[in-house]
Amino acid sequence: MDLKLAIEKRTSIRNFTDEKIPVEDLKELVRRAGLAPSVNNYQPWKFYAITNKEVLSDMAIKVADKIKKLPANESIAAKNVKSQVEWFATFFENAPAVIAMFMEDYESVLEKGVQLSHDEINKLRNFPDMQSAGASIQNLLLSAVDMGYGACWLSAPMMAKESLEKILKVEHPYHLIAFVAVGKPARELQPKSKKPIDEIFKLID
Ligand SMILES: Cc1cc2nc3c(=O)[nH]c(=O)nc-3n(C[C@H](O)[C@H](O)[C@H](O)COP(=O)(O)O)c2cc1C
Repeated sequence: MDLKLAIEKRTSIRNFTDEKIPVEDLKELVRRAGLAPSVNNYQPWKFYAITNKEVLSDMAIKVADKIKKLPANESIAAKNVKSQVEWFATFFENAPAVIAMFMEDYESVLEKGVQLSHDEINKLRNFPDMQSAGASIQNLLLSAVDMGYGACWLSAPMMAKESLEKILKVEHPYHLIAFVAVGKPARELQPKSKKPIDEIFKLID
């Protein structure tokens, strides 16, 4: 598919058919995610494709538990917000596949030359590790469209990051960054409207 069309067609898909995704397609999605730019070409990522229903359900339970335990005020509106967030953080359990992205910390060259901690340097550089992760996830989302799938990027489940890392048996130095739910869209969705170009563009000539 033409890149422009994939960019224009992409929209977050949260409802999927039961159709399984062949492992070759999951690998191809991850291969393309791995072609993204990363700070110093560090390629700090690893991806697990999870298709096991029990594992997905265990993960969703941990996320829902975590959200239920978040301190909230007692208003009905607040309770509604929580249940809404819970759905947006757990719908991944019904996806044919979830691609979990992990990253190891980026060790900047600066760390050898200045007396600043890893976290301080990362903050000074505007989080190049997370910027790299974003580039890679966008490759994955666009590739999903290109290959006839729909996908949704999820950060909300990261609220239960520690429990999820245990379920997935992830070990140091890797830590969980995000999920991408993937599958055949249950129905065709129109992309959401976005800000007009003149609102987001400024030329400094
Ligand atoms: C960093 C990031 C985190 C997101 N986390 C979630 C999430 O946890 N759950 C969810 O349902 N959607 C999540 N989304 C999807 C956004 O809600 C979606 O991109 C946004 O509403 C715009 O819609 P579109 O993707 O269809 O253009 C996330 C998107 C981004 C970029």
